[in-house]
Amino acid sequence: MHSDIDILDANTWGPGCHERFRWLRQHDPVHWDAKNAIWAVSKYADVVYASKHHEIFCSGEGTRPNMPTKLSIVDMDEPRHGQLRSLINRGFKPRRVGEITDHFRAFTIETLDKLAPKGECDFVRDIAVPMPIEVIADLIGIPKTDRNKLHHWSDTMIASDGNYDDLETMQNAANAFAEYVAYIEDTIEARRKDPKDDLVSVLVHARDGGLLGAADVRDAAKLPSEHATEMAKDELTMFLVTLLIAGNETTRNALTGGMSQLIENPAEKRKLIDDPALIPSAVEEIVRHVSPVQNFARTATRDTELRGRPIEKGQKILLMYPSANRDEEVFTDPDAFKVDRDPNPHVGFGIGNHFCLGANLARMEIRVMLEEILKRMPDIAYADGPPKLHPSLLVRSFTHMPVRFTPKA
Ligand code: HEM
Repeated sequence: MHSDIDILDANTWGPGCHERFRWLRQHDPVHWDAKNAIWAVSKYADVVYASKHHEIFCSGEGTRPNMPTKLSIVDMDEPRHGQLRSLINRGFKPRRVGEITDHFRAFTIETLDKLAPKGECDFVRDIAVPMPIEVIADLIGIPKTDRNKLHHWSDTMIASDGNYDDLETMQNAANAFAEYVAYIEDTIEARRKDPKDDLVSVLVHARDGGLLGAADVRDAAKLPSEHATEMAKDELTMFLVTLLIAGNETTRNALTGGMSQLIENPAEKRKLIDDPALIPSAVEEIVRHVSPVQNFARTATRDTELRGRPIEKGQKILLMYPSANRDEEVFTDPDAFKVDRDPNPHVGFGIGNHFCLGANLARMEIRVMLEEILKRMPDIAYADGPPKLHPSLLVRSFTHMPVRFTPKA
């Protein structure tokens, strides 16, 4: 029935996607999409297997199907990938994450206190959009006054996803990219001269040597080993581009998708109000059920097979996270949203060597948002029906979600 599915069409991932994906899991779990020349991998076990065998299914040939650009660390292979990850991890130290959490809670409370007396808002515009930007800006070290620009660049870049035929959108995305890169390069220079307690400073000063000249390191994998603990300027810039997209659009849709599930499942929401200790478990269920990041690709490094299907060297496979996360072989009653689901071994943050670097920050954001909202707006409900999905191949994307609640001073 769905054997002619166009797996790279953003609409395939829109309304009705779970019914299509169930069909694939049951009838054609490693499906050859001839139009796009890519294998659609829909079963949990296969997504896990391919992710954990990066020597067979690599990221270095690009992880966004259809997009020639390589997004920094996500599109790298070992050993450089692991070296960069350990460098970047220095910017995610517990003390720093603790500070970011404190700032984030203060920002959340301030935002909600302004909204609470109104009795209504657009959850996306007023809550889900500003919150993740605040965290990324805090992490990178971008001043408050520049945060609107950051929002604009991030939005414009992501709008190109799945809209490759729309020249205007693509041109706008290219412009936003260039502006953000210029801004980031200025920030890198500034932190180099005058380090602060932010991620850019940590990465720039990861070693006394500081940055290498961009021209020296076109191929970062060929860096002499004594420079393995440095981050080349190109790498750093591209990493900060990745971070903006990875940290914003994903968490935004997790917040909106999660709140929409709580609105649609009042008994589940009640459980969290009665027992806030369940919130961390609800966070995992949100990431599983919503699966805000829908897919990443890998490329076969040699002839191999998956579930008996022959995969040729150089062919691409698409890891379908929302499908893996509803695989009935792993999750009982997979379409149901249960805040106390246990066990919940979802792959919403990926798995293996590219496991989401921001997973703990994202979990923190969703948890703090739920804690503070359920205290202030326990009767939050749709003001205008369920949110509509904006077509996107990469993220499950909601653009508006009008909500209402009993106003509180
Ligand atoms: C609910 C929110 C989020 C979801 C669902 C999510 C999902 C994912 C997934 C599925 C991957 C795996 C990519 C792969 O295997 O090819 C990934 C990687 C990554 N994520 Fe997230 N992410 C979220 C939030 C964040 C945040 C807040 C940040 C940054 C602060 C972030 C930064 C990254 C980075 C840098 C990578 C690349 C890691 C690597 O290649 O080693 N993510 N994310």
